[in-house]
Amino acid sequence: MLLDVYQDVIWWSVGIFVVVEALLLFAVLRFRRRPDDTGMPDQVHGHTALEVGWTLIPAAILFFIAIPTVRTIFLTQRDPPPQADALQVSVVGHQWWWEFQLPELGVVTANELHLPRGRTVLFTLTSADVIHSFWIPRLGGKRDLNPGEENRIWFTPDSIGVYEGQCAEFCGASHANMRMRIFVDEPDAFERWVETLKGPAPIDTTGFTTFLASGCAACHAIAGTPAQGKIGPTLTGVGRRTTIAAGILPNTPEHLANWLRSPDSVKPGALMPDLNMSETRIDTLVTFLYGLQ
Ligand code: CUA
Repeated sequence: MLLDVYQDVIWWSVGIFVVVEALLLFAVLRFRRRPDDTGMPDQVHGHTALEVGWTLIPAAILFFIAIPTVRTIFLTQRDPPPQADALQVSVVGHQWWWEFQLPELGVVTANELHLPRGRTVLFTLTSADVIHSFWIPRLGGKRDLNPGEENRIWFTPDSIGVYEGQCAEFCGASHANMRMRIFVDEPDAFERWVETLKGPAPIDTTGFTTFLASGCAACHAIAGTPAQGKIGPTLTGVGRRTTIAAGILPNTPEHLANWLRSPDSVKPGALMPDLNMSETRIDTLVTFLYGLQ
């Protein structure tokens, strides 16, 4: 659907390119300077047929591009067909990370989302602060997340793979560091992912005590525990994610420790404060967070 519009526009552009280049080459060859030329060639001024032509033809082309474009924008903003049995995903944009809620499956996650191949997904998009824009180029579409308002976009991912996404609306200091990763899995692999996030997390009590003592639970949630903070990304299953800090760094113990040492130097403007923790405490937290599978 979205792809049809892209292909439409590409073929119009190819046609225009060929016509313009052909005319250009014709003019260059036909009217080139010859040895017996004297002075300027005949000049044409005020040619009604020509002027009407080069106004009407581009207007007609724009018309044929605009109609399918506008139709598709409205179509993807509407409900998907009921027989598609769309998976509902609520996306909330935050400075500077993504929250994904899958209410029918009881799952909340951040920055990395898994989707089952072949099932239509309806994203409802909103923002907790400023305007962001949801954009996963290889899956198609781009739509703003506005505070206090709900936008939608839906499509059906049909190929297994990892798709990188990026916020596409300037939203402050770390706009460029607001990335996400979408994994399109076979349906059974998707089910397993859902189960890992739903099942009671194996919690290491010593680590969890340090987590609470460090104040992490004020902002972060871990499903199935008293930690239910809402300001920062949920940490349920954070040990299984492939990236941290909204998709900008591979999820390694070194990067995670650096993040805990000074969030702001990893992601300028990050709202997570520098907690001045001892290295021992950082070690304990890193081990604890990796245990959140
Ligand atoms: Cu969020 Cu740019």
